[in-house]
Amino acid sequence: MTDFRKSVIYQIYPKSFYDSNGDGWGDLKGVTEKLDYIQKLGVDYIWMTPFYVSPQNDNGYDVEDYYRIDPRYGTMDDFEELSREAQKRGIKLMLDMVFNHTSSRHQWFQKALEGDLKYKNFYIFKKGQEKGVPPTNWESKFGGSAWEYVESFDEYYLHLFDVTQPDLNWENEEVRKEIQKIVRFWMEKGVKGFRFDVVNLISKGEYLDDHEGDGRRFYTDGPNIHKYLKELNETTFGTDAEIITVGEMSSTSLESCYRYAGEDEHELSMVFSFHHLKVDFMGNEKWVMVPFDFKKLKKILFDWQTHMAQHRAWNAVFWCNHDQPRVVSRFGNVEKYWKKSAKMLAAVIHCLRGTPYIYQGEELGMTNADFTDISQYKDVESLNHYQILQDKGLSEDNAKRIVQIHSRDNSRTPMQWNSGGNGGFTQGSPWIGCNKNCSWINAESQVEDEDSIFTFYKKLIELRKQYDIIAMGDFEPKAQEHPAVFAYKRYYEGKQLYVINNFYGNEVCWDAGEELEGYVCLLGNYDRQEIKDREVTLKPYETMILYKE
Ligand code: GLC
Repeated sequence: MTDFRKSVIYQIYPKSFYDSNGDGWGDLKGVTEKLDYIQKLGVDYIWMTPFYVSPQNDNGYDVEDYYRIDPRYGTMDDFEELSREAQKRGIKLMLDMVFNHTSSRHQWFQKALEGDLKYKNFYIFKKGQEKGVPPTNWESKFGGSAWEYVESFDEYYLHLFDVTQPDLNWENEEVRKEIQKIVRFWMEKGVKGFRFDVVNLISKGEYLDDHEGDGRRFYTDGPNIHKYLKELNETTFGTDAEIITVGEMSSTSLESCYRYAGEDEHELSMVFSFHHLKVDFMGNEKWVMVPFDFKKLKKILFDWQTHMAQHRAWNAVFWCNHDQPRVVSRFGNVEKYWKKSAKMLAAVIHCLRGTPYIYQGEELGMTNADFTDISQYKDVESLNHYQILQDKGLSEDNAKRIVQIHSRDNSRTPMQWNSGGNGGFTQGSPWIGCNKNCSWINAESQVEDEDSIFTFYKKLIELRKQYDIIAMGDFEPKAQEHPAVFAYKRYYEGKQLYVINNFYGNEVCWDAGEELEGYVCLLGNYDRQEIKDREVTLKPYETMILYKE
């Protein structure tokens, strides 16, 4: 059985990873060409975001055909080659499965629109409350109503995301059977991991107006969700002990995650939750400009660590993905302590109890996009909200500044391979602009450099393989009330790991409340071998991973 606790997963957004044929789009051959780089980092799995046939309104999360590869990414032969070449290097593939919705161009939806009742029942069509009033007041996650009117039926269909992403009706057993078929198809291709997109939204509850919010409480962690996940597990990936799974859980609760990722629940191996990445929101409102709340960040991560452990459930741990701003721009300090802060943030995540995910370019300390004009943005969510913010009365400039902070495109700019044109991503013209800082942030300059962010990530991965305590240890929060220190301990078979971090750019003094003598420093971002006292002065963005047998 694969021990996913000891694994590290590297996320690839193929469209922005490496373009092998000069059309400005990353492709599967491009991933194959860069496998040596990924192997060098030392990861066990590659999670690939969707490369299926898609009109790309949501960059592939709008799937038109689950069985075919979008020609812009390559062919099935390219996929099989990638799979073989990855396997040679001891790397397994994890695919992204988008089953909350399809693209409106999917043949199921096309047939539904033609009035074929079998397929109409694959989706969620409802009558309006009255003329011009949708069935409920729910909002789409990308802005606006979650319902779209179809005149020929005088009915609306539900789309929790873009209007071109109609939600599937999981209540319909035929839908579930089709989905099982898709998962088995990719299992037969040798895929050993699956990431299920917004999977805790698949079971809708009652269709009622939400007088307190945007409707999410009616469909998040819905009434039949555990039944559906158990069924999917039993009929597909659960039959292969080698396969690992992760569910993307939107606005979920701890209680639900005990079950989604519980050791004996037979649902999923682990979960992504996002509460720790909403500490620069105002409540649930993402499109605002507020500084991040450090104490809240710490409390959320600590709560998830301790409670998931108590319930024998497993976390995916991460800062970055294709929907999040770059962490070094978000919680670090690019101007003054770029390298130090990127390393500190890496250590914080990689020593937690959970399976760490690295998003392409994170291991280089890639930063947010440097776009100055709104026309440089491509993401549907960003563009919708840019408009919504102005409709609410914000100036163009303020709306743009908010987009610059929160846009998902911050993570979607091309991977920076070298300091050449377009960061070495493409010989052509890239589908989205490359950050000019590829002149100094790039793979070529870091891979062989002992002091680079890349090498630091590599060492973190090595530590996980070498010291069982990182994967297996119990978790204890430390310095809970401290305004700058992020510290915790891990315990395993009489050994101790002490992870101490300064989250800010000033020196801070911290009293650990216990002797720190006797620990050796396994890894840090300053030159520190050991600590003599219980009191320690931490340098700006200092991190240290201490260990005692
Ligand atoms: C997930 C994906 C995101 C996508 C959304 C709808 O959150 O990560 O990129 O837009 O689901 O599929």
